[in-house]
Amino acid sequence: MLTAAGVDSPRVDAEYLAAHVLGVERSRLPLVPMVDQQALETLHKLVRKRAERVPLQHILGWSPMGAITVDVGPGVFIPRPETEFVLEWGLQQVKGVERPVVVDLCTGSGVLALAVANARPDATVHAVEKDVDALAWARHNSDARVQAGDTPIRLHSGDVTAPGVLADLEGSVDLVLCNPPYVPEGTPVQPEVADHDPHAAVFSGADGLDVIRSVVALAARLLKSGGVVAIEHDDSHGESVPALLSARRVLTEVADHQDLAGRPRFATARKV
Ligand SMILES: C[S@@+](CC[C@H](N)C(=O)[O-])C[C@H]1O[C@@H](n2cnc3c(N)ncnc32)[C@H](O)[C@@H]1O
Repeated sequence: MLTAAGVDSPRVDAEYLAAHVLGVERSRLPLVPMVDQQALETLHKLVRKRAERVPLQHILGWSPMGAITVDVGPGVFIPRPETEFVLEWGLQQVKGVERPVVVDLCTGSGVLALAVANARPDATVHAVEKDVDALAWARHNSDARVQAGDTPIRLHSGDVTAPGVLADLEGSVDLVLCNPPYVPEGTPVQPEVADHDPHAAVFSGADGLDVIRSVVALAARLLKSGGVVAIEHDDSHGESVPALLSARRVLTEVADHQDLAGRPRFATARKV
């Protein structure tokens, strides 16, 4: 059983796996009349894999965000539900802006950029990623979304801590979104994270702020006057990330936002 191995949500995960094996939506499982022996054996195999702490999303092969799903697997960070709040906040901010320019820093699978492109076909969406394996997933997901009819995003291979990244866009961006690596090095994490998320996607120096420091500076340069930034952060960063944003004279309206569990989760600011 999934419970023995300490999986957080064993029933929900088992239901997703059953739905995956049976080729139905999870909500339709009670309507499945009969399950054959082969399906049961496949399900047992997948349940064992999950009990070994292989992430559910690696077994399913996909992860949701907004109205889309992206493919995920070894070599790329699995998008998390809490990042939906960053997406929602960002989309709300550009609601009244025609043809907004949006930048997703540290894009990983491309998930935030692609969810924005799906929700806002009129937007020009740029995404930056440093890791070659993650970039390959982002390209794959981007191709799939274009096939599905979404506006193509512009994918950049780059290091957000390097000088000159996206220099052409300076002063022209309406919205910067960023879910960077932010866990302080050495913090104990679940086996799904330790063994399956790339280290550089999760950890970022002793205080977890190495990449965020650069992202704050980059966002301040990229944004146009009135443009906004949202940066997801560790729950220990509820004061430090707003402080980094407030330290930039060109940024105002600095605020921190909580997730559903009431933990500090992302910080936002507006360029003056
Ligand atoms: C926490 S993951 C988030 C991925 C995606 N935004 C999401 O929400 O699922 C952080 C991503 O940042 C990338 N990354 C780490 N350092 C970077 C850097 N200096 N420049 C660009 N990307 C970086 C990692 O490779 C990883 O894909």
